[in-house]
Amino acid sequence: MDFENLLYNCNEGIATLYINRPKALNALNAATIRELISAFTRIGADAEVKLVILTGSGEKAFVAGADISEMQPLDAITGRQFALLGHQLAALIEELPKPVIAAVNGFALGGGCELALCCDIRLASDNARFGQPEVNLGVIPGFGGTQRLARLIGKGRASELIMTGDMVDAAEAYRIGLVNKVYPAAELLAAAQKMAQKIASKGPVAVGLAKAALRDGLETDLTRACAREADLFGLCFATADQKEGMQAFLEKRPAQFAGK
Ligand code: CAA
Repeated sequence: MDFENLLYNCNEGIATLYINRPKALNALNAATIRELISAFTRIGADAEVKLVILTGSGEKAFVAGADISEMQPLDAITGRQFALLGHQLAALIEELPKPVIAAVNGFALGGGCELALCCDIRLASDNARFGQPEVNLGVIPGFGGTQRLARLIGKGRASELIMTGDMVDAAEAYRIGLVNKVYPAAELLAAAQKMAQKIASKGPVAVGLAKAALRDGLETDLTRACAREADLFGLCFATADQKEGMQAFLEKRPAQFAGK
């Protein structure tokens, strides 16, 4: 894949996507968001890719927010359109039937924190900083932060971060459940690769269906959520991977998943 503001590579089913605008600490302008939409659309259709690691180029930033110079002249209509573009990207990542791991390698602020929030798993370097500093700029989070942050860490903690605009370091982000694990900066990508390899060794259809059950279930009541889980559990029994996974267990050998 050839992009102006992204770098992409794929090895053994694990794609790594770098946001690459070092001059603006990887800030998301509209062009970069469109490139991310294009990249994730192609990844979704590429049977070779089992899983995505999303990270930022350089040592300083994952993404330092939406691009402030591009947003400054927006009006009510174009501001809303810009938010909807961010929401389109977030929904695409959440609906991708493949896990997306955010490897947060520095600042994850505003739209950058929101981008990490729509990923399935967040791993952070020990120099990462998280925040929703939009109120410093006279706006509110626009790429889903008011919603996904509250769902992940609770309304009280989300309110504090969003209303104060304060940044938290990686240790605090771990303490409040914003990230799953923290690593020394030099080890972050290798740790993300290791987790990616472990997930990629599982039945990929089951992993995708588990993602769907987690996503859909959190947006509805427990009765409907459990019904959705039962439907998706049943669907697993239509796959060759289920037959192979259970047969391999019974034969005391490793499963060979075909992804179908
Ligand atoms: N948009 C555009 N440019 C940005 C940027 C952003 N979000 N963040 C950093 N940059 C640019 C800076 O303007 C600077 O460019 P120049 O060298 O041309 O001056 C370059 O990146 C390096 O930044 P700094 O010199 O500021 O670096 P620093 O180490 O002193 O500070 C920082 C780092 C604390 C992250 C600081 O850059 C900062 O506060 N950035 C803005 C963070 C922010 O407010 N993000 C939220 C944006 S609003 C949003 O995201 C809305 C939404 O929900 C959709």
